[in-house]
Formats: sequence, structure tokens, C-alpha cells
Amino acid sequence: MIQSSTFQTIKADPLHENDRLRIAEFIESTAGIQMPATKKTLIESRLRKRQRALSFESLRSYIAFVFDTADGEKERLHLLDALTTNKTEFYREAQHFEFLRAHLQNNINTYNGEFKVWSAGCSSGEEAYTLGIEMLEFQREFPRFSFAVNATDISASCLQHAKRAVYHHDKIEPVDMVLRRRYLLRSRSKNDNSVKMAPELTSVVNFDFFNLITGDWSPYHQQFSVIFCRNVMIYFNQDDRARLTQRFYQSLDDGGLLFIGHSETLIDPQGLFVRLRPTIYMKKSVYGRKD
Ligand SMILES: C[S@@+](CC[C@H](N)C(=O)[O-])C[C@H]1O[C@@H](n2cnc3c(N)ncnc32)[C@H](O)[C@@H]1O
Repeated sequence: MIQSSTFQTIKADPLHENDRLRIAEFIESTAGIQMPATKKTLIESRLRKRQRALSFESLRSYIAFVFDTADGEKERLHLLDALTTNKTEFYREAQHFEFLRAHLQNNINTYNGEFKVWSAGCSSGEEAYTLGIEMLEFQREFPRFSFAVNATDISASCLQHAKRAVYHHDKIEPVDMVLRRRYLLRSRSKNDNSVKMAPELTSVVNFDFFNLITGDWSPYHQQFSVIFCRNVMIYFNQDDRARLTQRFYQSLDDGGLLFIGHSETLIDPQGLFVRLRPTIYMKKSVYGRKD
């Protein structure tokens, strides 16, 4: 599959419009992500890296390999991975975590079983570990509180990073000093600027591959008390967003909470959720819904 000629020149040919359409069609049908014409430069620069890594002479020949050959099928996953936007942070949109803390404190008596949290579209894990820290902190206060954090994504490289649980020191800036001491480990080497999540934290967060658009949702039915799906739906079309809202509704317990990103709007034509704050929603109980 890799181009073999030692002295082959690697061209920086522009992305052909037919190839852009092909890629856009593939990405939308497999992951729901929309790639309009305005994303041409982004597609070009991200796929150029794959072209170079695999030593294809041109972007055109790389794309033809991906879509027109049987061997190219495996590479489609890398192509998908290269085109997902994975920006994330520890304690991103921090008021969501403050809200969750207050909500738990006010409702602790209503949670008897395991409090299950889902970071849907978790990228490299920062959101899931933030949730893990928050849950562990709550457990320090209420030792009988039992919880689990589930985190999923379609990006294989992000999931690998999340499971490795090692981050550059700059990334942990938003984490409070006391919490750093409790849940993060500094490297012993002076020259190493990395930080590892401590075992008590990694042991409570579970990472898995799950495609929100094409995945099998049946195991998720009424599984969660809280779902964070932030800065993910922003890339989806209206129909996929509305379908996801319904899926989240089915995956939450009665009174469960859904958090979305600050630049997003929930598409909820059936009125399944009550808005508690902008970007924070509660599942309506079956009896309270008007339909
Ligand atoms: C911008 S990141 C958001 C990360 C985190 N939720 C946050 O707000 O910091 C979006 C993530 O959604 C994932 N994603 C995109 N389409 C997806 C799909 N169809 N199923 C699951 N995850 C998807 C991407 O791989 C990416 O890691």
C-alpha cells in the first residue's frame, strides 16, 4: 500500500473538487460530521499529513487509494480520525461542573443506585477525567455515593491518548492545586513536563469507541443520570441533532441531565427536555411531557 520508489517526489497538489465532495459524503454518512466547501483548506492540510506519512505522490492518489481499493478500507478510519476536530480542555465551561456539584448536593437523597455519567464525544479524555475528579470529590463528602464515568468517541488516536492518561503540564492549568495533588502525578524526571492521571482517577473512568450516528444504542437505554455531549453536535445536520436529542432522552433516567456546548442549541422538536439554564437540560418525566 505504501508507495515504494525511494526518490519519488511528493506533490502538494490542491484538493480536487470531486475528491472534496467524496470525502464530505463519506464523513457525513459515517460520522454525521458536515464538511462544506468552506472546509476545503482544512481537509487539504489534514489529509496532506496522511499523504506524506504514507508517501503517496499526490493527494489525489492517496484519496483514490482510500476509496477505490480494498486495502484502502483500513485507512478510512485514519482519514476519519484526521478530519475530526478534537479541541478540548480540563474544566472546559467550568460552570457546568459547578452546576452539577450543586445539583448533586441538593438531590443526594434521590440517588440510591449508581450515578452514571457519560462523556459522549470525549476527545482525548479531559472532560471525562474532569467528571471523574468531580465525582471522586463528591464521594469524599458522601462516602456512600457510588458512580461510574463512561466516555466514548470515534477517534481512535484520541481514545488511545485518553487511555494513556498522560498530558502536557500546560493542559492541567485549569485544575485546582488541591485537586492536582489528589489526582494527578508529576513525572519524576525534571526535564519531563508531563502529568499522569493517578490510578484512583483512571480506575473510575472507562473509555470506549462509540459512533453517535451509526452505533447501536440499545445497551445505553435508561443507563445514565447525566450526559455531557459538548461541542460535538455542532458539526451535525439538523436531522441528526434531533435524532440524537431523542437518543439522549432514551438513554437518561427520569430527571437525568444533558449538558451541551455553549455555542450549541438543542434541537428538540418533541419537547423532551426542560431547559434549566442555557445549555443545561433536564429530561422531562414521561407524565410531564406535552405530546
Ligand atoms: C471538539 S471535540 C469535543 C470534546 C469535549 N466534549 C469537549 O467539549 O471538550 C468533538 C469530539 O466529537 C467526536 N465526534 C465527532 N463525531 C462523532 C460521532 N459521530 N460519534 C462520536 N464522537 C464523535 C470527535 O472525534 C471529537 O473528539
